Amino acid sequence: MRTILVINSKGGAGKTTLTTNLASYYASQKVRTAILDCDPQGSSLQWLRKRPGHLERIHGANATPTNGAAPLNSHRMWIPDNTETLIIDTPAGTKGLPLQNLVRRSDFIVIPVTPSPVDIHATADFVKDLFLVGGARSGHAKIAVVANRVRNSSPGYEALERFLAALNLPFLTRISDSDNYIRAVGSGTGVFEMEEASTLAERKEFMPIFKWLDGQAAVPVSDRHAVKTDNVVRFANTEKIAARRSTRNPQYDGQILLFPELG
Ligand SMILES: Nc1ncnc2c1ncn2[C@@H]1O[C@H](COP(=O)(O)OP(=O)(O)OP(=O)(O)O)[C@@H](O)[C@H]1O
Ligand SMILES: [Mg+2]
Repeated sequence: MRTILVINSKGGAGKTTLTTNLASYYASQKVRTAILDCDPQGSSLQWLRKRPGHLERIHGANATPTNGAAPLNSHRMWIPDNTETLIIDTPAGTKGLPLQNLVRRSDFIVIPVTPSPVDIHATADFVKDLFLVGGARSGHAKIAVVANRVRNSSPGYEALERFLAALNLPFLTRISDSDNYIRAVGSGTGVFEMEEASTLAERKEFMPIFKWLDGQAAVPVSDRHAVKTDNVVRFANTEKIAARRSTRNPQYDGQILLFPELG
């Protein structure tokens, strides 16, 4: 079973949006999928309850302390044995022992971050926690960052670039600020289960995440000249710095991912 942890201690970064869209994609691909919801708000489980019966089933499991069981310690008991992909949604403020437990059990860690200075700052603190307290430094999980709620004119964008380069974390994609995500979460679906013609942009921006999860870098360094966007020139220096750092850090496979072109 592959376990994907969606986490950022910052509230509202897009953890539930990513969790539900990842789950709905895998389910639509006939992958046996489960969500473990560690958030007492239970947003992912609420989403599951709205899920139309004709769509592929996604198993939901509650891992919050309120269900009377020890949280996060033995989540396998709450999910079917034949689960192929488990996606874990986490609450804002996850830290300490729960963070360690989650990191230890995960194969992939996806960190959504919105491009606002306040969120970037909070996320920087969280990533520090993830490595120093959460044990990500010595663990086996692969870690990557996804920008969420990005508008083409997002003013916090340069700060996000600097932040990612400094962390030397793979940056997979930009998820746009789109009403389709709000519609999806309100209807128990994901953008891959909505009308294709009206969700093409959203489907495209999610693909680098699936490629990364499948072991393919979305846009590896060696292919970077293939990415012809206005952004590449602006990002070139950042990438060079990050690429130099990556050679000293085997944890990230020496892969640096570029900002893929939006639409
Ligand atoms: N890409 C997006 N486009 C439009 N709306 C979005 C997008 N991502 C998230 N939202 C909206 O922003 C709000 C917060 O998103 P979400 O619930 O996914 O964040 P979260 O990290 O799970 O929050 P929490 O920390 O409270 O659990 C929700 O109302 C969600 O519908
Ligand atoms: Mg949430």
